[in-house]
Amino acid sequence: MRILSGIQPSGALHIGNYLGAIRQYVALQDADDAYYFVADLHALTSVRDAALLRQYVSDVLIDLLALGLDPERAVLFVQSDVPETVELSWLLTSVTPMGWLEKCVSYKEKVQQGLPAEHGLFAYPVLQAADILLYDADLVPVGRDQKQHLEITRDVAERFNNVYGKKKPVFRLPEPYILDSVAVVPGLDGRKMSKSYGNTIEIFDEPAAIRKKVKKFVTDSTPVEAPKDPDADPLFGLFKLFAAKADVAEVERRYREGGIGYGEVKTRLGEALVATFAEARERRAEWVAHPERVAAVRAAGAEKARATARAVLDRARAACGLG
Ligand code: ADP
Ligand code: TRP
Repeated sequence: MRILSGIQPSGALHIGNYLGAIRQYVALQDADDAYYFVADLHALTSVRDAALLRQYVSDVLIDLLALGLDPERAVLFVQSDVPETVELSWLLTSVTPMGWLEKCVSYKEKVQQGLPAEHGLFAYPVLQAADILLYDADLVPVGRDQKQHLEITRDVAERFNNVYGKKKPVFRLPEPYILDSVAVVPGLDGRKMSKSYGNTIEIFDEPAAIRKKVKKFVTDSTPVEAPKDPDADPLFGLFKLFAAKADVAEVERRYREGGIGYGEVKTRLGEALVATFAEARERRAEWVAHPERVAAVRAAGAEKARATARAVLDRARAACGLG
């Protein structure tokens, strides 16, 4: 069973990305043949400063290593280090009906949010299909928002198989692995934590910065003595995801009885976050101190990924009469 997923380097990773995605990547790398990559070609749709993109790619690669992705167990690479991706993307785009892309919610949403209606953004799902089909992936762990992109990937693969692979299918059809049961991590304003809402807590901010950020969590003006409903409070929701079980039970009881203020919960949440990522922070510092090791991981990942990619691309090229 081959697992594959990608994450865009469009900013520092936040704790929502960790619980919603990376923790699962780490869990899956032990069970299976796993490929994970930093989707820098996709990030071109939103990051337009070359130095910044370079920085984000390097940051995200180091973050993934620090959080436990192990290059001995998973193939860890950067999307643009595998130029075969772009070539396959053209083969796929040649058989993709406009209508499939026109109905894509994420394109419409991004244009509505103010991103220019460029062709790269429109063709984003085809590039994503190339990412997935190029590695014969069986299972693609993604958040719910990626469901439609996975459907398009399957549709494009089937269409290519119908056009060119009548005798022998060219592409394997991947299954999405939608991480539904995973908690939606609330952000500082109580909405879903997301870069686009500016309500994130970055995993690798300095501990002092994390403690300070948590203090900004928006709360109501219920007095300390008054009982509060823990289930209705996003601050408690976040605390519950990161604090130790005994602490969660104690704080929950005091919410219901009254006698705990939001200030105390914020302080304890700050400590819980700092503690949760303490080991990863140390590992990260090690990687940062040894850029040559990061470069070696990146080069080795590219080599392994390209070997797999080349074979699939050759199959696709032969099927449609190239070369
Ligand atoms: P953002 O919304 O900050 O731009 P992305 O869309 O790049 O984040 O998300 C990357 C991965 O992290 C996806 O798999 C997504 O499902 C997961 N993720 C992002 N935000 C959250 C959240 N608040 N809770 C749980 N998972 C999240
Ligand atoms: N579009 C995905 C996201 O925004 C990132 C991505 C790019 C991806 N290529 C992929 C995810 C291939 C899974 C498989 O989260």
